[in-house]
Amino acid sequence: MRLSEGARLIRFTNEEFTQLITYMSGQYGIDLSKKKILAECRMNGELEKRGNISMGEYMRQMEMDMTKQLESILLNRLTTNYTYFMREPKHFDFLREKILPNIKPEWGRISFQIWCAGCSSGEECYTLAMLLQDYKDQGGWLPSFSIVGTDISEQALAVAQKGRYPVRELENIPALWQKKYLSIDEAGTSFDIGHAIREKVRFQRMNLLKPSVGLGQYDLVLCRNVMIYFNEESRKKLIEKLYRALKPGGYLFVGHTELLPRNHELFEYVCPAVYRK
Ligand SMILES: C[S@@+](CC[C@H](N)C(=O)[O-])C[C@H]1O[C@@H](n2cnc3c(N)ncnc32)[C@H](O)[C@@H]1O
Repeated sequence: MRLSEGARLIRFTNEEFTQLITYMSGQYGIDLSKKKILAECRMNGELEKRGNISMGEYMRQMEMDMTKQLESILLNRLTTNYTYFMREPKHFDFLREKILPNIKPEWGRISFQIWCAGCSSGEECYTLAMLLQDYKDQGGWLPSFSIVGTDISEQALAVAQKGRYPVRELENIPALWQKKYLSIDEAGTSFDIGHAIREKVRFQRMNLLKPSVGLGQYDLVLCRNVMIYFNEESRKKLIEKLYRALKPGGYLFVGHTELLPRNHELFEYVCPAVYRK
């Protein structure tokens, strides 16, 4: 975020910053310890809006706020929600070429289930839904499928639920998928995800660091570009959680910059950024 000329950045004291780091890492696993300026820039507008209050005062008000609105604003501002359609395409190639062809009617399951942990504004989930639907449309055999996307940022989830994106986000989506599954608005500025794709995807707010009641069992879990923001201890906890959420033989995709050791005690290494339970 760039501050306009003459605008004053509300700086955090060391004590305030330590309090923020402890809160974000303890509650959400997010490690901000090397990101003081970034955090100051991202919080500045909100602190200004509330009468140029200090970060310490914000945290005090947040503690008293029963509506949890201040906490939600803090998370919306301090999480990095960068994502796009078809991100890290090797994973989608692997799914289409290696996982899906092995699913046969005799597999005996009624549904293929996917969890996108840390789905941000939904592009990853919709990419998967279009890929699976296209696979079926092209004659591939697949039982019914469903995708659940979870995130802690309410702002990101609201975009995901809406399923409307600016046209510039079309650039990586294959032309055939655009034609079959998306509709561009009359002004040509945005597009909507079609009903057939949307109904395959559901979004839910979830903190990956807290125990999750009723979390299902999945054939494939994607947790990409989430752990890079976590400290070591939270990363370990998260990997164990992802492991528990997978069915035996299920696959885990992580971001290509957050690889697990090849001899990981829980997962079998398959190829870069792909692991198997
Ligand atoms: C950079 S985005 C990655 C989006 C997508 N997976 C991708 O690879 O493009 C990281 C997402 O993780 C979410 N996140 C961070 N910590 C989380 C936590 N403790 N629980 C749930 N989501 C979290 C953030 O809100 C953010 O939307």
